[in-house]
Amino acid sequence: MIFYFSGTGNSRWVAGKLSEILDCGTPAAVHEELRNAGESGMCRYSLGADEPLILVFPVHSWGPAVMMLRFVSHLEISNYGGQPVYAVCTCGDTCGWTDRMIRKALESRGLPLTACWSVRMPNNYILMKGFGVDTDEVRETKLHTAPHEIEAIAGAIRGQSHYRCYTVGKEPWLKTRVINPLFRRFLAGPDSRTEFRVSDACTGCGLCARNCPAGVITMQDGRPVWGRGCVQCTACINRCPVRAIDWGGITQSQGRYHHPAL
Ligand SMILES: Cc1cc2nc3c(=O)[nH]c(=O)nc-3n(C[C@H](O)[C@H](O)[C@H](O)COP(=O)(O)O)c2cc1C
Repeated sequence: MIFYFSGTGNSRWVAGKLSEILDCGTPAAVHEELRNAGESGMCRYSLGADEPLILVFPVHSWGPAVMMLRFVSHLEISNYGGQPVYAVCTCGDTCGWTDRMIRKALESRGLPLTACWSVRMPNNYILMKGFGVDTDEVRETKLHTAPHEIEAIAGAIRGQSHYRCYTVGKEPWLKTRVINPLFRRFLAGPDSRTEFRVSDACTGCGLCARNCPAGVITMQDGRPVWGRGCVQCTACINRCPVRAIDWGGITQSQGRYHHPAL
């Protein structure tokens, strides 16, 4: 059973590839699972006797994307009996201690993490000065290498290899223990405000509202309006077909990225 969260398609594509290779059905998007949860708000599933549970999600500020943490905190495997639990995170560069954070979140639901891998994918983070999408060359190299890494991860899940790949990077303590909580509190928390604004190039197509996994964009008089609770996935800004969305006046000249399969 594969669950994924994805803003710009990288993690969705990785989840799809893994599912193809391992033949384990259509991956489920966690924001939809959360939205469809019943009155209790819990997401309940049962696993086959040897069926693995696989979570695929992007690294956001050296921790798991908040929507995946939210999903795990609502996750119940009714017949859990030691089936393997895997995490595959996609990152532009380094993950810090994302693996420790997802391990802790899973453990609090009684689900011990068996292994965690990272896959380097094109960077989608453009919401801060000094950050930007990859050069064409770097992006193409990552897109070319990723399928081999996914094959290797699938091989390890099948027990055919001991493939291990997880890129911590420098100063994980500072990044995951100091910067990540600030990110979750002020930028990706339930009350976070956004700096998104829309230009006259907007055609009112509504794609940003439909693509927003947090459901915080509404169309008012044919223009998107952002409410509170954005999770900073960057789907709206990166997937706008006419580049009408900007963040805080700093992204007009930035590149945009979404996975080519979207
Ligand atoms: C808010 C935010 C924070 C990010 N932080 C990191 C990070 O700490 N380390 C990293 O390597 N990449 C980081 N990235 C890049 C994404 O992890 C990477 O591009 C990922 O593959 C995007 O997945 P998606 O297309 O499924 O949303 C960040 C992206 C966003 C939007």
